[in-house]
Amino acid sequence: MLESLVQEAPYGILAIENANEILIANEQATQLLKLDNREQMLIGKSVFECFDHIQSLKAKLKDSLKHNNSSFDLDAFLFDDRFLNIRGRQVDEGYIVTIEDITRDKEMEMVALNSMLEAQELERRRIAKEIHDGVGPNLSIIKLMFEAINTETSWELSPKANSKMKDVFELIDSVASDIRSISHQLMPKVLLDFGIIPATENMINQINRTEKIKIIFFHSVVSGRYAELIELGIYRICQELINNAVKHSGAKEVQVQIIEHSSSIILMVEDNGKGFNKQDIMNENPGVGLINIESRTNALGGNFILDTSTTKGVSVTVEIPLEK
Ligand SMILES: Nc1ncnc2c1ncn2[C@@H]1O[C@H](COP(=O)(O)OP(=O)(O)OP(=O)(O)O)[C@@H](O)[C@H]1O
Ligand SMILES: [Mg+2]
Repeated sequence: MLESLVQEAPYGILAIENANEILIANEQATQLLKLDNREQMLIGKSVFECFDHIQSLKAKLKDSLKHNNSSFDLDAFLFDDRFLNIRGRQVDEGYIVTIEDITRDKEMEMVALNSMLEAQELERRRIAKEIHDGVGPNLSIIKLMFEAINTETSWELSPKANSKMKDVFELIDSVASDIRSISHQLMPKVLLDFGIIPATENMINQINRTEKIKIIFFHSVVSGRYAELIELGIYRICQELINNAVKHSGAKEVQVQIIEHSSSIILMVEDNGKGFNKQDIMNENPGVGLINIESRTNALGGNFILDTSTTKGVSVTVEIPLEK
């Protein structure tokens, strides 16, 4: 009964005794971890020997053993194109390791995230269009009407009214320019028309003109255009990372790089500012910028790495796979 329970379990099971010898390995475990268990040859072998092809799992196990046999969890561990949840639980004289294949859940999560982001971008596009095409032209008409009043000689405005009129013109111009820039930020037309590089250049030039921080942009992009969701994703991530550097880093310089590889596109944003302590931020900060970057990257099937300390600034790398 016990044997069938282990063999028929809906996930992989490995029992490890004397710290490293494999005692039991069910079919699922050998399949998911690509272990060779012909004629039970795994039994009695050292796990370290068997996990040579899965270095991070080996490292986790070694680490747990070093720290007084503590338990460990590897969540959504990517191995051989599958996402695995691997749990190591310490028991008397060994470990029970369970391996669960969560690839389907992950894929469904990605589909859900993608459709949420797609809906969000559509809504942004709609609002940007409304603001740009609706409010913008109406403001121009208001300005024209005031100009007509101003130039209507027979009405002869008093000097006081004339000076107020000047203030009104200035305010209308400033609101029109705010509206234009809000609509562009919501959905940059240049991104849709010309792609990620001109759009990023535009954004950076604009910031370099107005902010004290200097942003340096470097890119090596061969093909120029990518799927719309990838372009939008990279643009939004870049926007948030630059915004964070401007708001929080106190840096003098930020380097932005977009690099195309044969099967992926990489965005790197690095600043030389004051950095932060990841643990403190996780406990205290209610911001959503970094969380959004992570879920955007996940939705595109990519990788997000944030490296920072309170002395060396912030460096973020996002790698998005390109479909061939
Ligand atoms: N480049 C940076 N330099 C220094 N600190 C940073 C940098 N980027 C982020 N941080 C820190 O990490 C925190 C979390 O950033 P996050 O973008 O998630 O939130 P936020 O910017 O505070 O708010 P939101 O993005 O939601 O408007 C920031 O509040 C800041 O303390
Ligand atoms: Mg932010």
